[in-house]
Amino acid sequence: MKNKKKIAIVTGAASGLGFELALLLAKDNYELFLVDVDATKLEGAKKDIEAQYATSIQLLHKDLSKPNVSEEIFLALEGKDVDVLINNAGFGIFGSFNDTDWLRDISMLNLHVLTTTHLTKLVLKGMVARGSGKILNMSSLAAFQPGPLMSLYYATKAYILSFSEAIANELKGTGVTVTCLCPGQTKTCFQEVVSNGAKASENKIKFNIACPKQVAEYGYDAMKKGKVVAVPGNFNKFLSKLPRFVPRRTATAIIRKIQEKNRDN
Ligand SMILES: NC(=O)c1ccc[n+]([C@@H]2O[C@H](COP(=O)([O-])OP(=O)(O)OC[C@H]3O[C@@H](n4cnc5c(N)ncnc54)[C@H](OP(=O)(O)O)[C@@H]3O)[C@@H](O)[C@H]2O)c1
Repeated sequence: MKNKKKIAIVTGAASGLGFELALLLAKDNYELFLVDVDATKLEGAKKDIEAQYATSIQLLHKDLSKPNVSEEIFLALEGKDVDVLINNAGFGIFGSFNDTDWLRDISMLNLHVLTTTHLTKLVLKGMVARGSGKILNMSSLAAFQPGPLMSLYYATKAYILSFSEAIANELKGTGVTVTCLCPGQTKTCFQEVVSNGAKASENKIKFNIACPKQVAEYGYDAMKKGKVVAVPGNFNKFLSKLPRFVPRRTATAIIRKIQEKNRDN
């Protein structure tokens, strides 16, 4: 009997890290369900992947910050078993919490917290029943300490890290693994979107900026190995551990200085 093709869902697959992760899955012959809010970019991503790999790609044009969107994605799978779920879509908001736009704040909370959690819940039951499956949740170096001037971004990424570590522990022995990828600054469209809704200027700190292909390869490899927390790059590994050795208020003050230096206020 012909082997059934494995199925993977990638959110935020139209660009950056999501696109690179989708390419790696295509190379490994997964059937892909690619989700993104930008239909045109998503079509472009599909063409780029098909130009390199012969795999089946379904596009789901969805705003993942809307209620009930996780169920819509799950229904679109028509009962197919999901082998890999990559919760990658995300964006940043810069500014003092007192000044940021509430509707954009809610979008971020819904996207990073609710949709990540709900999609995970929806695919997990089947994975556990089959005794196999891999989930990769996209967090950030931001997860390891509070982040003044990007308070919700840092807090939601801390949620993703804590949630992923906890369920990875619960799932030990089930055949299902959960990996949380925590990149530092990476050269994608992300930095253009980090702003209070408007286009932001480029990052001012040009040091230690990673290439998305390498970050995706690192995260993909960690997911395949079932590693729980994956921080790409030795300097980022050091930075992720630093908050354990300084008082939390000092770490918080350092992040504020970095944010003030990095962007236009
Ligand atoms: N780049 C970094 O420095 C960095 C560092 C650490 C962690 N990360 C994380 O990595 C993940 C991927 O970001 P990236 O750097 O690859 O940035 P990116 O190039 O902007 O990719 C993010 C993708 O997610 C999509 N997206 C955003 N909001 C969405 C929504 N509501 N519904 C559906 N799709 C949505 C974006 O679409 P649009 O472009 O149309 O909005 C975009 O295609 C994010 O979770 C981010 O927090 C990035």
